[in-house]
Amino acid sequence: MKMTPRVRKILSHYESDNPGTKTNLARILMQGRLAGTGKLVILPVDQGFEHGPVRSFGPNPAAYDPHYHFQLALDAGLSAYAAPLGMIEAGADSFAGQIPIILKLNSANTLTAAKNLARPRGAPQTVLLTGATGYLGRFLCMEWLQRLSQSGGTLICIARGRDSGAARERIADALDRGDPDLTREFQTLAADHLEVLAGDVDEPNLGLDDGTWNRLADNVDLIVHPAALVNHVLPYSQLFGPNVVGTAEVIRLALTSKLKPINYVSTVAVAFSGDDVFGEDVDIRTAIAVRKIDDTYANGYANSKWAGEVLMREAHDLCGLPGAVFRCDMILAHRRYAGQLNVTDLFTRLMLSLVATGIAPRSFHEFDGRTDGARAHYDGLPVDFIAEAIATLGANATDGFHTYNVVNPHDDGISLDQFVDWLIAAGNPIQRIDDYGDWLTRFETAMRALPDRQRQHSELNLLDAFRPPTPALHSPVLPADAFRAGVRSSCIGVDRDIPHISADLIGKYVADLRQLELL
Ligand SMILES: NC(=O)c1ccc[n+]([C@@H]2O[C@H](COP(=O)([O-])OP(=O)(O)OC[C@H]3O[C@@H](n4cnc5c(N)ncnc54)[C@H](OP(=O)(O)O)[C@@H]3O)[C@@H](O)[C@H]2O)c1
Repeated sequence: MKMTPRVRKILSHYESDNPGTKTNLARILMQGRLAGTGKLVILPVDQGFEHGPVRSFGPNPAAYDPHYHFQLALDAGLSAYAAPLGMIEAGADSFAGQIPIILKLNSANTLTAAKNLARPRGAPQTVLLTGATGYLGRFLCMEWLQRLSQSGGTLICIARGRDSGAARERIADALDRGDPDLTREFQTLAADHLEVLAGDVDEPNLGLDDGTWNRLADNVDLIVHPAALVNHVLPYSQLFGPNVVGTAEVIRLALTSKLKPINYVSTVAVAFSGDDVFGEDVDIRTAIAVRKIDDTYANGYANSKWAGEVLMREAHDLCGLPGAVFRCDMILAHRRYAGQLNVTDLFTRLMLSLVATGIAPRSFHEFDGRTDGARAHYDGLPVDFIAEAIATLGANATDGFHTYNVVNPHDDGISLDQFVDWLIAAGNPIQRIDDYGDWLTRFETAMRALPDRQRQHSELNLLDAFRPPTPALHSPVLPADAFRAGVRSSCIGVDRDIPHISADLIGKYVADLRQLELL
């Protein structure tokens, strides 16, 4: 960011402040008519939509429109605009990037008091989990039920539903995909160790009544937060509520009554910025202080998960909240339980589409000059391993701030091309097409001709992800030294190391898709 000597001088007085705060201050000081002078004027708007616009803006009806205030601040050449959440949400998309926005929270008491709250002690006995109806969340639910059954503890899940019974049904249903062992195991553990509350992370108090909120604030020892609106198409403005405000609300609960460590599930998409990638020891607020809002693929999703990580860092810096961030890449099928694969994800759709159409490219990757074909690596890990890793490392993260890149770091040549070889070797008739462009055209035509249900679960609407062929990556997309060290020292997984993707797992995709009658 370009700064005048005057602004640089002012910032030098804030050397000990965190990088995020300094970047925001710099943006404010370099905005509007006073940019660079070292002076600033902020437009503060209060109450308004919280208490009813008619009362607050009565003499000036034009101000009923939240955009009016953004525009006023811009027209006046002000340095920033400060308002409560509702007002900001109503203009965040239209005015994104035009003026620094300051969110006014009524939580001063929460933040000030938090530093003196009791800190976590011992193994957690009451764990709160969000997102248990989701793909990763259901296996985090199983992991924690198993752990808490050993110590007589309780897992509390917040899930959407008409009431707590309906929310509980939804979790049971997510785990009941045709494997009787899993269903039995869940029912046995849940009978004594699971409480389900109907709630919504996108609502104040997570959609809970005050009594329940206070009970959770007093009793919960650890919060595991994978819930998110996982959508690569929606813009930031629509993901802001569930993914950013939702995470802020989870943090508020963690800072009420006693400090509760949070395990926040994030994505590798957060740690890419241009050609740079970031390790686990880097403060994301420094590495990527500002992000663009645009209409590139998954921009809103990556921004919303980044904002969640920023909130976690801020809560740690300001209030000493212990935090662990787990940045996952593709979460693959469960290695054991039948029918447990994520039917909506890009990878499952690809497996289905390759087998259903019977055609694959000679290679998915740009030719890298090797005569034996491109050597590449696919970054994904089985869901059972990821859930075990998050539960184990997360339970230990009772102090400080930890970031783990939950990626597959092996330069093992196990790639999409290898998966096609395995599919063919297992007897699936797949023809290799030499020319990539030719394959893509034929693939699209063949998917259009599939029966309705198969077509809906195919790659048809996500084909852009394969246009053009990707470079052959040998090593992991992100460094994962802390994650690997944690996995090894805590003896996570059958190999006590990060696993390689196996032919058995790819074979299980086909078996699971057949069981679900998608093949
Ligand atoms: N899948 C991957 O390959 C992948 C890769 C990298 C990172 N991640 C991260 O891993 C986490 C889990 O992903 P996933 O694939 O398991 O997602 P998923 O299957 O779509 O599950 C998302 C969960 O979040 C819940 N949720 C969404 N909005 C909510 C709200 N307003 N209130 C309460 N719950 C809400 C959903 O509940 P409903 O059932 O009510 O919708 C569901 O339980 C996410 O944080 C995601 O960013 C996933």
